[in-house]
Amino acid sequence: MDTLTTIAEVRATVRAARAAGDRIALVPTMGALHDGHLALVDAAMEHADTVIVSIFVNPMQFGPREDLSTYPRDLDADRARLEEAGVAAVFAPTVEQMYPSGTTSPTVVTAGHLGMTLEGRIRPGHYDGVLTVVSKLLHIVDPDVAVFGQKDAQQLFLVRRMTQDLDMPVEVVGVPTVRDADGLALSSRNRFLSDHDRRTALRLARALEAAGSSADRGVETMIAAAQGVLQSDSGVQLDYLAIVDPRTFALVGDDHRGPVQVLIAARVGAVRLIDNATYAIP
Ligand code: PAJ
Repeated sequence: MDTLTTIAEVRATVRAARAAGDRIALVPTMGALHDGHLALVDAAMEHADTVIVSIFVNPMQFGPREDLSTYPRDLDADRARLEEAGVAAVFAPTVEQMYPSGTTSPTVVTAGHLGMTLEGRIRPGHYDGVLTVVSKLLHIVDPDVAVFGQKDAQQLFLVRRMTQDLDMPVEVVGVPTVRDADGLALSSRNRFLSDHDRRTALRLARALEAAGSSADRGVETMIAAAQGVLQSDSGVQLDYLAIVDPRTFALVGDDHRGPVQVLIAARVGAVRLIDNATYAIP
């Protein structure tokens, strides 16, 4: 497995793979890899012959009071896992390689109105940072397929829409959320949860299940069921609990029928967590 740090090296690697007739897949990550990321790699293997994983903690998507400096980084461990998984190359650029003029790009891909709601309302500028870096990565690698997790539902929606809006010739594949046996969605930030906070964090998954169990009684009942699990004295500081139509990401009303996505974002101790699940209202 090659570890590439420059854009020129990536382009040369991709050129050689294409000359050999390979289909190329890109899996963008920020490292500190867990089994959720590895599920993305497995899906990428099914869609392509050459899989490239990028590892870049993107400063442009972190707010001034967010955890950029403490975000977990462990390139050696990540490389070992990816090599074992059969990845062809890791692209681990420096900030300077990606942003020669500082820690952001002067030219920005904006997510528009949807980038300012839900997760985007709590994290202003976050999705512009995500779309800008994903767009750069897609231009650098020029893959046939790019793989993202459903865990970050709004991110997946916005990336998919960007590739359509900007006519990017790439197929975006979404992979279901990988969970621990007790239901906690895997996240690079879970390592910062104490045992006690980890038990508290399970309420996010339990709240989604409670909402799902009430799906036949409509949106308002689903919200109430989830709220019951997330009461204010539970140790979960809720940022938002919302139900959207996964086809548009618009909030749905009580008369909605069909697919719905329940979204939760919360802080448990100092750790910020997001989770979601999709159900159908009959
Ligand atoms: P990161 O948080 O490292 O996640 C990389 C990819 O892994 C994302 O597509 C995310 O949805 C997916 N992922 C994370 N946890 C998962 C889980 N438990 N199950 C399935 N997939 C999971 O998301 C980012 O990085 C960045 O915003 C990035 C897209 C790389 C742009 O900087």
